[in-house]
Amino acid sequence: MRKWWQDIIIYQVYLRSFQDGNGDGIGDLPGLISRLDHIKTLGADTVWVSPHYDSPMDDNGYDIRDFHKVSPDYGSLEDFRRLVAEAHKRDMKIIIDMVLNHTSDEHPWFQAAKDPTHPEHGHFRDFYIWQEPKWEKGERKRPTNWTGFFGNPTWTYNELMDEYYLHIFSKKMPDLNWRNKAVRKAMKKVLRFWIDIGVDGFRLDAANHLEKNWDFPDASPGYEHFSSLPEHHEYLQELGEEIFEPHDLVIIGESGGASTKEALQYAGFDSEEFDMLIHFGHCWADTNPKNTLTPGKWAKGEIDVPKIKKSFARWHEALQGKGWNAIYWHNHDHPRIVSHYGDDARYWKESAKMLALILYLLPGTPIVYYGEEIGMTNVDYERLEDFRDVEVFTEYENFRANGSSHEVAMQALRDRSRDNARSPMQWNGDKHAGFSQTTPWMPVNKNHVHINVKDQLEKEESLLKVYQRLLSERRKEDVAHGDVTFFGLEHPETFNYLLRAKTCDYLVLANFKETPLEMEFPIDPSGFRLFLYTSDRKRAEKKATSFGPYEARMYKRKR
Ligand code: GLC
Ligand code: CA
Repeated sequence: MRKWWQDIIIYQVYLRSFQDGNGDGIGDLPGLISRLDHIKTLGADTVWVSPHYDSPMDDNGYDIRDFHKVSPDYGSLEDFRRLVAEAHKRDMKIIIDMVLNHTSDEHPWFQAAKDPTHPEHGHFRDFYIWQEPKWEKGERKRPTNWTGFFGNPTWTYNELMDEYYLHIFSKKMPDLNWRNKAVRKAMKKVLRFWIDIGVDGFRLDAANHLEKNWDFPDASPGYEHFSSLPEHHEYLQELGEEIFEPHDLVIIGESGGASTKEALQYAGFDSEEFDMLIHFGHCWADTNPKNTLTPGKWAKGEIDVPKIKKSFARWHEALQGKGWNAIYWHNHDHPRIVSHYGDDARYWKESAKMLALILYLLPGTPIVYYGEEIGMTNVDYERLEDFRDVEVFTEYENFRANGSSHEVAMQALRDRSRDNARSPMQWNGDKHAGFSQTTPWMPVNKNHVHINVKDQLEKEESLLKVYQRLLSERRKEDVAHGDVTFFGLEHPETFNYLLRAKTCDYLVLANFKETPLEMEFPIDPSGFRLFLYTSDRKRAEKKATSFGPYEARMYKRKR
């Protein structure tokens, strides 16, 4: 049976950077409301809003202080209700980001947990994960040597308790103890609160980290002891059964590094955990293991195109007919896709269009990240002070400790940091890019003078227009339910596939790289006509087998 959420097109909004509505330099709910029509005109009908809750903003709201309150930076509960009403009025849906894994250290639960004299300490202590110090040669040591996702140790000592608490993200984000039934009960109450307000779904943040290995063995970095442990499925099932299913919500789970083996467990049609998941299988396909100065995701290397294709193919295959897939390039935790997998200089337009063409004719539910539709690029910051992300600062120190120069460390930040995808939306070429009347909380990219919505609305050949065409085509032809065949998965440069849709077939052919390329049609092209393309039409027609830098074409055939 078809579900409503199989036919939606999601647009992800990083609230802080989307539109400032009250002139304080910070994006907010009234600002978002004023831009719902932009999202609708693009062809999307569902908004995933990054955390809007009260928070000290250590991690821009993923550190929640009060689950029931809207951050004053973003507006009020009334504004939130208005957002839901305005969206519904336009036949749009609202998905909110729900953080299950941790709270802010300023959350009242943690305040009680960390203070033995607090009247409710007894109840809240085990909401979090405490361990006694390890003693080595008379020295107090952390319970394990694990490293968290922001590059810092996962344990912080608390004097009042004389114990360490666990945090797999920043030290201001203590992990909740999901083994504790009272935690699960409290989180269900939070979910119900927002369901009653009328949200249509949740994106579940860091959902595969809910269970930890309580033997606490040493391991570095140790991710396997706090990621994807089997019991986290039980917690998710419990939420699914009691909360999600009965309300017919859409649930999108974040499960970084999930395997296709787990696909059906998460997002199979008979699973109650998620409806679709975000796994990042095709992200970071360009690392360089030899770089030890700025290692891991920070080390930029050659793009492994087969790896990207195979990830899409594998996930499609794992879920086809049995579950549901989400398709996306990136989100607020990645560099901008055109800078990452394309070229943000000479071939900016070509590569941005190529990336759009090859993604948005794939089956599943698409998620467009704000600014992607106009080809927003990585930030151009020269100074460390221009960055905002908590992760940037710990990692900068790590790079320097590894022996990187300031310049090398800064380049890694400009290439790979999460701040790349968080700069203010570029609405127009004015001083603050139409985002705000005043200096924004984070500098706008200087290229907003030529990369902006206003300009692209006026130009027929713009990237924005390509997005509009692609998304409307997808809807008309039911591409979400289409059947895809990939060609040449091992080929290092091409990205080719055939999509059988409702009444027609699409043949997508692309050169993923800068070097020009000759390619044969992977199938007999008769009956196909050129429909969308990144270079000029004449060239594409005259030289159908030669592809320039980042050139992509989409052919269409009626069946
Ligand atoms: C998720 C979010 C990321 C956040 C982290 C901790 O990975 O996408 O932005 O920092 O969880 O909540
Ligand atoms: Ca504001």
